[in-house]
Amino acid sequence: MFTIDIDPTASLEDSYQELNAQLAALLSGERDLICNAAQFSAFVMQTIPDLNWSGFYFAHNEELVLGPYMGKVACTRIPFGRGVCGETAKTQHTQRIEDVHAFSGHIACDADSASELVMPVVSEGKLIGVFDIDSPKVGRFSEVDQEGLEAFVETFVKATDFTWSL
Ligand code: SME
Repeated sequence: MFTIDIDPTASLEDSYQELNAQLAALLSGERDLICNAAQFSAFVMQTIPDLNWSGFYFAHNEELVLGPYMGKVACTRIPFGRGVCGETAKTQHTQRIEDVHAFSGHIACDADSASELVMPVVSEGKLIGVFDIDSPKVGRFSEVDQEGLEAFVETFVKATDFTWSL
């Protein structure tokens, strides 16, 4: 069994660094996209407090298609440019939204969501999709959270092959 150790006395920056090392260990030895995306979503949900959704959308023909996630059922397809996820795909820049109700065009998959952090997933210059986390707390995500989660996404990209096929 894989166990995750969290030191409650560590700073947020140190906690993210320590968790990133544990994430790399969790994903090591497996390069399958769906497997690693599922593990990654669960790892984030299990280790980052106050989340109600954690998961991937993958890019297909200017649309995002729902991938592995933890949380309530969600919208299946989002065109590039729509909502927080579509904006992230279009700009390939992280969107850190303090209050989703103040974001024009926000897509409310789960009515409990109040703030959101969406990061692009890019491998060798190509947009693979986005990784999205939602919180029921307004202003849940700080710059430190953003940097920590972006480092997690980098670990995921390094650990994974993006050549999935049946
Ligand atoms: N709120 C997102 C949609 C995805 S769900 O939060 C899972 C958006 O506005 O793009």
